[in-house]
Amino acid sequence: MYDTPNLENKVVTNETKISARGCQVYYGDTHAIKDVDVDIEDKTVTAFIGPSGCGKSTFLRCLNRMNDTIDVCRVEGDITLDGEDIYDPKVDPVQLRAKVGMVFQKPNPFPKSIYDNIAYGPRIHGLAKNKADLDDIVEKSLRRGAIWDEVKDRLDAPGTGLSGGQQQRLCIARAVATEPEVLLMDEPCSALDPIATAQVEELIDELRQDYSVVIVTHSMQQAARVSQKTAFFHLGNLVEYGETGQIFTNPQDPRTESYITGRIG
Ligand SMILES: Nc1ncnc2c1ncn2[C@@H]1O[C@H](COP(=O)(O)OP(=O)(O)OP(=O)(O)O)[C@@H](O)[C@H]1O
Ligand SMILES: [Mg+2]
Repeated sequence: MYDTPNLENKVVTNETKISARGCQVYYGDTHAIKDVDVDIEDKTVTAFIGPSGCGKSTFLRCLNRMNDTIDVCRVEGDITLDGEDIYDPKVDPVQLRAKVGMVFQKPNPFPKSIYDNIAYGPRIHGLAKNKADLDDIVEKSLRRGAIWDEVKDRLDAPGTGLSGGQQQRLCIARAVATEPEVLLMDEPCSALDPIATAQVEELIDELRQDYSVVIVTHSMQQAARVSQKTAFFHLGNLVEYGETGQIFTNPQDPRTESYITGRIG
């Protein structure tokens, strides 16, 4: 009933980038993520789908320790990035989040110039030796964010003055400026119109050449269009995970089938 996903290039197994084993998340007494095991591949777009409240955002936030910032939240189990435990006390969450960048539902540019939005992370992490270096990083990141041509003549203008779709591409450019290895996106297109959504989807497809991308989406058409792997969550459980084409055309679990055919959600 949805667009048939493009099955070319779909059945490729890439190296594991992030691995979760026995992941549990609690908010006080609420058990929001239940014993999730998953291997997320490098150079792949992975979609997280499932009904509202099933735990997609909660699990996504485990992958760069954003849940650390929520007081009542407790994460258990093992999560590794390239085999290294990201919850090890030796890991600095700020450094981790530069490697595992995040883009949110609502575009959230800093109240700074377009240039400074991008330069902020590289400055903090000491990625530029001098001004020329920083200029290079800013240009390269804006190009990666597919927004350079639209902003190159107004880099000093405030990022908040851009359109919603431009702001979201600016936020993606900001996320790639710190040279991340993984990009987490929580419903990145839900505030965008169809044209801006198509631009961001095209960008996501390009980004997977270099990164592991994980996208939470409520749009099954979007999951089918942009992802190679899909994970279906339901009531805190990871019910089914596999090739996107297979999940949408031949789901193995009745709960997945009900969701994708619109019976639950
Ligand atoms: N900060 C919080 N404090 C307490 N409970 C929370 C918090 N954030 C999420 N929860 C609960 O955890 C469960 C999973 O929520 P989560 O936001 O991860 O779902 P979701 O799948 O992203 O939903 P949606 O599609 O609506 O964004 C829900 O029961 C939710 O009420
Ligand atoms: Mg959510």
